[in-house]
Amino acid sequence: MEFEQINLIGEEWPFRRPLDAVFCRNVMIYFDAPTQRRVLERLHRVMRPGGLLFVGHAEHFSDARDLFVLRGKTVYERL
Ligand SMILES: C[S@@+](CC[C@H](N)C(=O)[O-])C[C@H]1O[C@@H](n2cnc3c(N)ncnc32)[C@H](O)[C@@H]1O
Repeated sequence: MEFEQINLIGEEWPFRRPLDAVFCRNVMIYFDAPTQRRVLERLHRVMRPGGLLFVGHAEHFSDARDLFVLRGKTVYERL
């Protein structure tokens, strides 16, 4: 198992393989809606279908239903 810490709005993301899980808790709340959408699209591209995105309790991404579906209070599944 490998872990990476990244800058979500940085130029380059270092991933070589599709990600099974992303822990991104209480970070996206600091981004405006267009930035959130861009980050979610990028996460979608680097995650495998069925991969899980763990977010914070106050974070809701209902505008990204085309990318992720809610699977629990704070867990989204990558479509
Ligand atoms: C409120 S803290 C949440 C920390 C932890 N994830 C948690 O849930 O307890 C916000 C975190 O967002 C990180 N952060 C801020 N901007 C970021 C960015 N562009 N990319 C990645 N992490 C970022 C900060 O380093 C900080 O650790």
